[in-house]
Amino acid sequence: MPAVARSYWPDTRCAKAFWGQHDLPPYRQLLADTLAWANPGSGERWLDLGCGGGAITRAIWERTAGTVAEIVGADCAEANADAYARLRENLTPAPGERIQFVCHDFSAGLEAFADREFDHVVSGLSISYAEAFDLATGTWTTAAYDQLLTEVFRIIRPGGRFVFSVNVPNPSWAKVARFSLLAAFQSERPLQYLKRSWRMLWYGRWLKREARAGRFHYLPADVVTRKLAAVGFVQIAQRLSYCDQAYIFRAHKPS
Ligand SMILES: C[S@@+](CC[C@H](N)C(=O)[O-])C[C@H]1O[C@@H](n2cnc3c(N)ncnc32)[C@H](O)[C@@H]1O
Repeated sequence: MPAVARSYWPDTRCAKAFWGQHDLPPYRQLLADTLAWANPGSGERWLDLGCGGGAITRAIWERTAGTVAEIVGADCAEANADAYARLRENLTPAPGERIQFVCHDFSAGLEAFADREFDHVVSGLSISYAEAFDLATGTWTTAAYDQLLTEVFRIIRPGGRFVFSVNVPNPSWAKVARFSLLAAFQSERPLQYLKRSWRMLWYGRWLKREARAGRFHYLPADVVTRKLAAVGFVQIAQRLSYCDQAYIFRAHKPS
Protein backbone atom coordinates (compact mmCIF):
# COMPACT_ATOMS: atom_id res chain seq x y z
CA MET A 1 0.00 0.00 0.00
CA PRO A 2 1.19 3.58 -0.55
CA ALA A 3 2.64 5.35 2.51
CA VAL A 4 -0.38 7.69 2.90
CA ALA A 5 -3.34 5.31 2.71
CA ARG A 6 -5.69 6.91 5.23
CA SER A 7 -8.61 8.96 3.91
CA TYR A 8 -9.67 11.99 5.92
CA TRP A 9 -13.09 12.20 4.24
CA PRO A 10 -14.98 10.11 6.84
CA ASP A 11 -13.54 12.24 9.70
CA THR A 12 -15.86 14.66 11.48
CA ARG A 13 -13.16 17.35 11.46
CA CYS A 14 -12.78 17.10 7.68
CA ALA A 15 -16.56 17.08 7.11
CA LYS A 16 -16.99 20.20 9.22
CA ALA A 17 -14.12 22.00 7.50
CA PHE A 18 -15.95 21.67 4.19
CA TRP A 19 -19.23 22.96 5.62
CA GLY A 20 -17.33 26.27 5.73
CA GLN A 21 -16.90 26.45 1.95
CA HIS A 22 -20.58 27.26 1.50
CA ASP A 23 -19.91 30.90 2.44
CA LEU A 24 -17.14 31.41 -0.12
CA PRO A 25 -18.07 33.47 -3.21
CA PRO A 26 -16.51 30.97 -5.69
CA TYR A 27 -18.58 28.18 -4.09
CA ARG A 28 -21.76 30.32 -4.17
CA GLN A 29 -21.14 30.80 -7.90
CA LEU A 30 -20.58 27.06 -8.39
CA LEU A 31 -23.79 26.32 -6.51
CA ALA A 32 -25.79 28.78 -8.62
CA ASP A 33 -24.31 27.39 -11.86
CA THR A 34 -24.97 23.78 -10.75
CA LEU A 35 -28.58 24.57 -9.83
CA ALA A 36 -29.14 26.33 -13.15
CA TRP A 37 -28.09 23.17 -15.01
CA ALA A 38 -29.83 20.80 -12.62
CA ASN A 39 -33.09 22.74 -13.00
CA PRO A 40 -34.99 20.67 -10.41
CA GLY A 41 -38.76 20.44 -10.67
CA SER A 42 -41.82 19.49 -8.64
CA GLY A 43 -42.42 15.85 -7.82
CA GLU A 44 -38.87 14.73 -8.69
CA ARG A 45 -36.66 12.35 -6.70
CA TRP A 46 -33.03 13.51 -6.44
CA LEU A 47 -29.85 11.93 -5.11
CA ASP A 48 -27.14 14.35 -3.89
CA LEU A 49 -23.98 12.26 -4.14
CA GLY A 50 -21.11 13.19 -1.79
CA CYS A 51 -23.56 15.67 -0.29
CA GLY A 52 -21.38 16.99 2.56
CA GLY A 53 -23.38 19.40 4.72
CA GLY A 54 -26.21 19.49 2.17
CA ALA A 55 -25.70 22.82 0.39
CA ILE A 56 -27.04 21.44 -2.91
CA THR A 57 -29.88 19.61 -1.17
CA ARG A 58 -30.90 22.85 0.53
CA ALA A 59 -30.69 24.75 -2.76
CA ILE A 60 -32.90 22.20 -4.57
CA TRP A 61 -35.44 22.37 -1.76
CA GLU A 62 -35.52 26.16 -1.77
CA ARG A 63 -35.57 26.49 -5.56
CA THR A 64 -38.56 24.17 -5.84
CA ALA A 65 -40.23 25.71 -2.76
CA GLY A 66 -40.25 22.24 -1.21
CA THR A 67 -42.24 20.67 -4.04
CA VAL A 68 -39.65 18.00 -4.93
CA ALA A 69 -40.79 14.52 -3.95
CA GLU A 70 -37.55 13.53 -2.21
CA ILE A 71 -33.86 14.37 -1.88
CA VAL A 72 -31.44 11.77 -0.53
CA GLY A 73 -27.98 12.96 0.48
CA ALA A 74 -25.29 10.26 0.47
CA ASP A 75 -21.85 10.76 1.96
CA CYS A 76 -19.17 8.67 3.69
CA ALA A 77 -18.92 11.07 6.67
CA GLU A 78 -21.43 10.25 9.41
CA ALA A 79 -21.09 13.82 10.77
CA ASN A 80 -23.13 15.03 7.82
CA ALA A 81 -26.17 13.28 9.33
CA ASP A 82 -26.23 16.12 11.91
CA ALA A 83 -26.18 18.72 9.15
CA TYR A 84 -29.14 16.96 7.49
CA ALA A 85 -31.01 16.79 10.81
CA ARG A 86 -30.61 20.57 11.05
CA LEU A 87 -31.79 20.96 7.44
CA ARG A 88 -34.94 19.01 8.28
CA GLU A 89 -35.54 21.29 11.27
CA ASN A 90 -34.84 24.60 9.55
CA LEU A 91 -36.15 24.34 6.01
CA THR A 92 -39.49 25.80 5.00
CA PRO A 93 -41.81 24.10 4.25
CA ALA A 94 -40.67 21.41 6.70
CA PRO A 95 -39.43 18.44 4.63
CA GLY A 96 -40.05 15.69 7.18
CA GLU A 97 -38.82 12.40 5.73
CA ARG A 98 -38.63 13.83 2.21
CA ILE A 99 -35.01 14.85 2.91
CA GLN A 100 -32.85 11.98 4.07
CA PHE A 101 -29.20 11.26 4.72
CA VAL A 102 -27.53 7.93 3.98
CA CYS A 103 -23.99 7.23 5.19
CA HIS A 104 -22.45 5.50 2.20
CA ASP A 105 -18.98 5.05 0.69
CA PHE A 106 -19.46 5.44 -3.06
CA SER A 107 -16.04 3.91 -3.81
CA ALA A 108 -17.84 0.61 -3.15
CA GLY A 109 -20.55 1.46 -5.71
CA LEU A 110 -24.16 2.43 -5.13
CA GLU A 111 -25.67 -0.95 -4.22
CA ALA A 112 -27.79 0.79 -1.55
CA PHE A 113 -29.94 2.15 -4.38
CA ALA A 114 -32.25 0.34 -6.80
CA ASP A 115 -32.24 0.54 -10.59
CA ARG A 116 -34.00 3.74 -11.79
CA GLU A 117 -34.67 4.81 -8.16
CA PHE A 118 -34.03 8.50 -8.87
CA ASP A 119 -35.21 10.92 -11.52
CA HIS A 120 -31.89 12.77 -11.40
CA VAL A 121 -28.55 12.73 -9.61
CA VAL A 122 -26.53 15.78 -8.61
CA SER A 123 -23.05 15.93 -7.10
CA GLY A 124 -20.79 18.79 -6.01
CA LEU A 125 -16.99 18.38 -6.12
CA SER A 126 -17.20 14.79 -4.88
CA ILE A 127 -16.99 12.00 -7.43
CA SER A 128 -13.25 12.67 -8.04
CA TYR A 129 -12.71 10.99 -4.66
CA ALA A 130 -13.93 7.53 -5.67
CA GLU A 131 -10.84 5.47 -4.90
CA ALA A 132 -9.59 2.00 -5.85
CA PHE A 133 -6.26 0.42 -5.03
CA ASP A 134 -5.02 -2.50 -7.10
CA LEU A 135 -3.12 -4.86 -4.82
CA ALA A 136 -1.69 -6.82 -7.76
CA THR A 137 0.09 -3.79 -9.25
CA GLY A 138 0.38 -1.76 -6.04
CA THR A 139 -1.18 1.29 -7.72
CA TRP A 140 -4.26 3.47 -7.46
CA THR A 141 -6.63 3.12 -10.40
CA THR A 142 -9.75 4.80 -11.80
CA ALA A 143 -11.77 1.56 -11.41
CA ALA A 144 -14.00 2.97 -8.62
CA TYR A 145 -14.54 6.23 -10.52
CA ASP A 146 -15.54 4.33 -13.66
CA GLN A 147 -17.75 1.98 -11.66
CA LEU A 148 -19.43 4.95 -9.96
CA LEU A 149 -20.39 6.44 -13.34
CA THR A 150 -21.87 3.06 -14.35
CA GLU A 151 -23.81 2.92 -11.09
CA VAL A 152 -25.14 6.48 -11.42
CA PHE A 153 -26.39 5.57 -14.90
CA ARG A 154 -28.11 2.49 -13.43
CA ILE A 155 -30.00 4.33 -10.68
CA ILE A 156 -31.29 7.20 -12.88
CA ARG A 157 -34.58 6.66 -14.71
CA PRO A 158 -34.53 6.79 -18.53
CA GLY A 159 -34.58 10.46 -19.57
CA GLY A 160 -33.04 11.58 -16.25
CA ARG A 161 -29.90 13.71 -15.87
CA PHE A 162 -26.64 13.60 -13.98
CA VAL A 163 -25.39 17.10 -13.13
CA PHE A 164 -22.11 17.29 -11.24
CA SER A 165 -19.03 19.36 -10.65
CA VAL A 166 -15.44 18.14 -10.45
CA ASN A 167 -12.21 20.06 -10.00
CA VAL A 168 -10.04 20.74 -13.03
CA PRO A 169 -6.61 19.04 -13.23
CA ASN A 170 -4.18 20.54 -10.70
CA PRO A 171 -6.72 23.03 -9.29
CA SER A 172 -5.39 26.26 -7.81
CA TRP A 173 -6.74 26.56 -4.26
CA ALA A 174 -4.77 29.83 -4.05
CA LYS A 175 -7.01 31.28 -6.76
CA VAL A 176 -10.13 30.15 -4.86
CA ALA A 177 -8.67 31.70 -1.67
CA ARG A 178 -7.89 35.00 -3.46
CA PHE A 179 -11.47 35.26 -4.72
CA SER A 180 -12.72 34.48 -1.18
CA LEU A 181 -10.57 36.96 0.72
CA LEU A 182 -12.90 39.93 0.40
CA ALA A 183 -15.73 37.86 1.88
CA ALA A 184 -13.52 37.13 4.91
CA PHE A 185 -13.30 40.83 5.74
CA GLN A 186 -17.02 41.32 5.11
CA SER A 187 -17.91 38.35 7.32
CA GLU A 188 -19.39 38.98 10.76
CA ARG A 189 -16.81 36.58 12.21
CA PRO A 190 -13.66 37.08 10.08
CA LEU A 191 -11.41 35.05 12.40
CA GLN A 192 -13.66 32.01 12.31
CA TYR A 193 -13.93 32.43 8.54
CA LEU A 194 -10.13 32.53 8.12
CA LYS A 195 -9.72 29.51 10.43
CA ARG A 196 -12.14 27.46 8.35
CA SER A 197 -10.45 28.57 5.12
CA TRP A 198 -7.08 27.56 6.55
CA ARG A 199 -8.44 24.08 7.42
CA MET A 200 -9.82 23.67 3.91
CA LEU A 201 -6.47 24.66 2.42
CA TRP A 202 -4.79 22.05 4.65
CA TYR A 203 -7.10 19.33 3.34
CA GLY A 204 -6.71 20.80 -0.15
CA ARG A 205 -2.97 20.08 -0.05
CA TRP A 206 -3.72 16.47 0.95
CA LEU A 207 -6.21 16.14 -1.94
CA LYS A 208 -3.72 17.40 -4.51
CA ARG A 209 -0.97 15.14 -3.15
CA GLU A 210 -3.27 12.13 -3.47
CA ALA A 211 -4.44 13.22 -6.92
CA ARG A 212 -0.80 13.29 -8.04
CA ALA A 213 -0.45 9.74 -6.66
CA GLY A 214 -3.46 8.65 -8.74
CA ARG A 215 -5.78 8.05 -5.78
CA PHE A 216 -8.10 10.97 -6.59
CA HIS A 217 -9.06 12.04 -10.09
CA TYR A 218 -8.92 15.62 -11.29
CA LEU A 219 -9.37 14.66 -14.91
CA PRO A 220 -9.39 16.77 -18.10
CA ALA A 221 -12.89 17.55 -19.39
CA ASP A 222 -12.49 15.43 -22.53
CA VAL A 223 -11.55 12.39 -20.43
CA VAL A 224 -14.65 12.80 -18.22
CA THR A 225 -16.80 13.26 -21.33
CA ARG A 226 -15.45 10.01 -22.83
CA LYS A 227 -16.09 8.14 -19.57
CA LEU A 228 -19.70 9.40 -19.42
CA ALA A 229 -20.29 8.40 -23.03
CA ALA A 230 -18.75 4.96 -22.41
CA VAL A 231 -21.38 4.12 -19.79
CA GLY A 232 -24.24 5.31 -22.01
CA PHE A 233 -24.85 8.99 -21.18
CA VAL A 234 -25.76 11.26 -24.11
CA GLN A 235 -26.06 15.02 -24.74
CA ILE A 236 -23.03 15.65 -22.56
CA ALA A 237 -22.19 19.31 -21.92
CA GLN A 238 -19.61 20.95 -19.69
CA ARG A 239 -18.67 24.45 -18.56
CA LEU A 240 -16.22 26.08 -16.17
CA SER A 241 -17.18 27.59 -12.80
CA TYR A 242 -15.63 28.05 -9.31
CA CYS A 243 -13.24 30.73 -10.67
CA ASP A 244 -12.30 28.26 -13.40
CA GLN A 245 -11.18 25.59 -10.91
CA ALA A 246 -14.11 23.23 -11.56
CA TYR A 247 -16.09 21.87 -14.48
CA ILE A 248 -19.82 21.37 -14.29
CA PHE A 249 -21.12 18.47 -16.39
CA ARG A 250 -24.66 17.72 -17.47
CA ALA A 251 -25.34 14.32 -19.03
CA HIS A 252 -28.60 12.58 -19.93
CA LYS A 253 -29.68 8.97 -19.77
CA PRO A 254 -31.47 8.19 -23.07
CA SER A 255 -35.26 7.92 -22.79
C1 LIG B 1 -15.53 18.90 -1.43
S1 LIG B 1 -16.72 18.09 -0.45
C2 LIG B 1 -18.23 18.60 -1.26
C3 LIG B 1 -19.44 18.45 -0.39
C4 LIG B 1 -20.78 18.89 -0.99
N1 LIG B 1 -21.10 18.17 -2.19
C5 LIG B 1 -20.81 20.38 -1.24
O1 LIG B 1 -21.03 20.78 -2.38
O2 LIG B 1 -20.65 21.13 -0.28
C6 LIG B 1 -16.56 16.40 -1.00
C7 LIG B 1 -17.52 15.45 -0.32
O3 LIG B 1 -17.36 14.14 -0.87
C8 LIG B 1 -17.48 13.19 0.18
N2 LIG B 1 -16.78 11.96 -0.20
C9 LIG B 1 -15.47 11.80 -0.49
N3 LIG B 1 -15.20 10.51 -0.74
C10 LIG B 1 -16.37 9.83 -0.62
C11 LIG B 1 -16.74 8.47 -0.75
N4 LIG B 1 -15.84 7.54 -1.07
N5 LIG B 1 -18.04 8.12 -0.57
C12 LIG B 1 -18.97 9.06 -0.22
N6 LIG B 1 -18.67 10.38 -0.07
C13 LIG B 1 -17.38 10.76 -0.27
C14 LIG B 1 -16.82 13.87 1.36
O4 LIG B 1 -17.16 13.28 2.60
C15 LIG B 1 -17.29 15.31 1.19
O5 LIG B 1 -18.49 15.54 1.88
